[in-house]
Amino acid sequence: MQAVHGLVRSAGDGAPSASTASKCGARCGEEEPEELNLRVSALREGNGDEDSEAESYRDGRTGEVDRETRARAFAWCRDFLSGSWKSIAEADFQISIVSGGLSNLLYKCSLPDHIKPVGVEPSRVLLRIYGAILQEVESLVSESVMFAILAERKLGPRLYGIFPEGRLEQYLPSKRLHTEHLQVPDISAEIACKMARFHRMVMPVNKEPRWLFATIDKYMKKIMNTTFEREAHIKKFKKLMKYDLPAELASLRALLAATPSPVVFCHNDVQEGNILMLDGRDRNSSDKLMLIDFEYSSYNYRGFDFGNHFCEWVYDYTHDQWPFFKANLDNYPNRQQQLHFIRNYLSECEDNVPEDQAKIEEDIIIEANRYALASHFLWGLWSIVQARISKIEFGYMDYAQHRFDSYFKQKKLLA
Ligand SMILES: Nc1ncnc2c1ncn2[C@@H]1O[C@H](COP(=O)(O)OP(=O)(O)O)[C@@H](O)[C@H]1O
Ligand SMILES: [Mg+2]
Repeated sequence: MQAVHGLVRSAGDGAPSASTASKCGARCGEEEPEELNLRVSALREGNGDEDSEAESYRDGRTGEVDRETRARAFAWCRDFLSGSWKSIAEADFQISIVSGGLSNLLYKCSLPDHIKPVGVEPSRVLLRIYGAILQEVESLVSESVMFAILAERKLGPRLYGIFPEGRLEQYLPSKRLHTEHLQVPDISAEIACKMARFHRMVMPVNKEPRWLFATIDKYMKKIMNTTFEREAHIKKFKKLMKYDLPAELASLRALLAATPSPVVFCHNDVQEGNILMLDGRDRNSSDKLMLIDFEYSSYNYRGFDFGNHFCEWVYDYTHDQWPFFKANLDNYPNRQQQLHFIRNYLSECEDNVPEDQAKIEEDIIIEANRYALASHFLWGLWSIVQARISKIEFGYMDYAQHRFDSYFKQKKLLA
């Protein structure tokens, strides 16, 4: 979650100028639903969330591109794309917010209709401005290298420009998946297959599986040294701290140390918003999905990608009112759904069904569900860090609470 760097709120203006809000109350369909143009939605009656944090977002999220962002976007497009982009005036430059990301600020930038490309330059691009968490703590260098390699291998969008604050990517006409798509058997099968292909890649990054616990440790250290200013955050943080997280981390480490899981190149964030359904592909094709958003990708234990993906069946980040997500633990994949995923994954890895397939499947089920605990833990901490630093409107503290509550529920089930 996804993945995020708040460069759009100019100091002191007090009004969020962009957001990654969901589209038209979720899964509306055919038109380009990811785009938000100046949408201010009123908080519906009966929201039931009376905390002061919810109150501060009573007008919902806003979707206007501020003047400063527009000017910067125009300059990046003109200078990196060149061609026709050099000949247009800023007034003709088209920009709109692309919603859906939790880590970055995304915009669709286009040439005006009457201006056509003169060479190889694209007529529209996706501008990504990195979020605060990436700029502050994540490794931008390796992420950019991975993005460029995946682009060259046609496993990700093309790269048109790269600069310290963000980059310009190929705009892929597509619809992102939604939570309920994850349980559609054909889609689940293709996600498993795409995950298996991802895991087979060789990347020029560190191959020691340090990412998981290094990231957890980094976030843990950050939150232990953090102070919150807003009353609602202080209250929620206090409640979260009732869980003895450092002690729990030791127990998680021990459990995973006793859980075999091969080290592969993991996506680490296979959630519905990071899976695009490409336009123009045959409905029955088994090649209509593309994984995007590699900012957390690294060599890691395979089980994390499985367990993390299973957790994502629970969360819907397109809810358009506070806290901007919905969770339904009943949607966690059942045994049959897990097996369906695992079988499709394995069939992409192996040409022949191995003799001990049943045992392999049972082992992966255990591996996946134990690593699901690591997913809850990691994204729970991530969300507390985000509550402190992100300018994106999202109930980060509420999300963290849900992830840790789910962690303990899942742990009980495993026991
Ligand atoms: N190259 C692209 N072309 C078209 N839409 C995109 C592209 N990249 C991202 N999106 C849209 O933006 C959403 C968020 O993108 P993502 O890369 O996951 O950002 P974040 O890191 O902030 O989560 C996606 O769900 C998708 O709808
Ligand atoms: Mg994302």
